[in-house]
Amino acid sequence: MSDKTNAVAKAGGLAGVVVGNTSVCTVGKGGHGLHYRGYAVEELAEHACFEEVAYLLLNGELPNTDQLTDYRARIKARREVPGALKDILEQLPADSHPMDVMRTACSALGCIEPETAQNNQEKITDRLLGIFPSVLLYWHHFHTSGERIDTNTPEDSIAGHFLHLLHGKPASELQERACDASLTLYAEHGFNASTFASRVAVATLADFYSGITAAIGTLSGPLHGGANEQAMELIQRFNDPDDAEAGILKALDAKEKIMGFGHRVYKVCDPRSDVIKSWSKKLADSLGDDRLYRISERIEAVMMREKKLFPNLDFFSASAYHQMGIPTGMFTPIFVFSRTAGWAAHIVEQRADNKLIRPSAQYIGPEPRALTPIGQR
Ligand code: COA
Repeated sequence: MSDKTNAVAKAGGLAGVVVGNTSVCTVGKGGHGLHYRGYAVEELAEHACFEEVAYLLLNGELPNTDQLTDYRARIKARREVPGALKDILEQLPADSHPMDVMRTACSALGCIEPETAQNNQEKITDRLLGIFPSVLLYWHHFHTSGERIDTNTPEDSIAGHFLHLLHGKPASELQERACDASLTLYAEHGFNASTFASRVAVATLADFYSGITAAIGTLSGPLHGGANEQAMELIQRFNDPDDAEAGILKALDAKEKIMGFGHRVYKVCDPRSDVIKSWSKKLADSLGDDRLYRISERIEAVMMREKKLFPNLDFFSASAYHQMGIPTGMFTPIFVFSRTAGWAAHIVEQRADNKLIRPSAQYIGPEPRALTPIGQR
């Protein structure tokens, strides 16, 4: 075994290993910084809406006004849930995890509206961006109140559409903008686990839906997308900042991982965290109740002081989403609404210059040996 192979095996988890080329984004250059197609994510979150960002990821350039209007209209026209998928959503258990619902719905849509020369990857991407919030809220309302909701809303933005379907009325401007910014922050992140899973799937020449379904399943784990839900559960354990400080010190003493902190690639900070933190503060101020925000800030301070660990995007997303009235189980599905743009951009890129992804393993099992037939063992 070469020294290089040895180092990879020792690091585990492919940490630091370059496994392919991409022109979609750069993550963590110099320990920090995130750029989508060359644009800093902080600037995109401040000056562009999520649909502009999705267009950028998928087309390589930002849209002009006409292109954006057209793109938003295309996505908006694809919000309707087909009857066959409604039937499936109604059959799923009421206590399913919403991520399992998303994964199942994506796979089912692949049977109902399969990928073909006409229904190509561009059309399916628009469709998934349009339909995913509708799917989640159709399932949610059916199982919580028995209502079969109309999934069309007047809002042009995916954020506004989602919040309207969730609350049954238009969101405030602040909530819609905060949710829209969070979609931008979650939209893309290089060769993270779910994106890599999607590339592995389509590299076998599997269909587009297989790539997205694999990605959704991979995203659901608490070390990846599921961390925002775990962060919320953590924050809600505490009554006030002092209580939080004591609880975190105890958890660290017990060698527990604090969800929403640390990162595989960023070494200095997660550039997305301050952006979502500022939205969390604005939402707390608008509610006139900053208890969760103050608890979160104290946890941030304790983690920096004790472990030199900084919050990743998931940590302040938790309080931001909660303050928008979003149930915790929907936090990771929102990540799906957004990351679908990044996954799709990577699938398109993988297919454009495809090679089967099939790494080797370092074998650590028994040496070749003779088989003793079953009756003689
Ligand atoms: N809480 C407490 N300690 C943490 C930690 C956290 N959130 N994240 C990392 N550490 C510690 C580990 O315990 C380990 O300490 P040790 O060397 O004393 O054993 C060290 O930092 C390295 O952590 P490790 O898990 O090996 O790093 P990684 O690169 O494999 O992991 C994450 C990166 C993101 C998986 C990891 O930081 C983590 O589990 N964070 C919590 C989950 C999360 O927020 N995920 C969302 C990522 S965007």
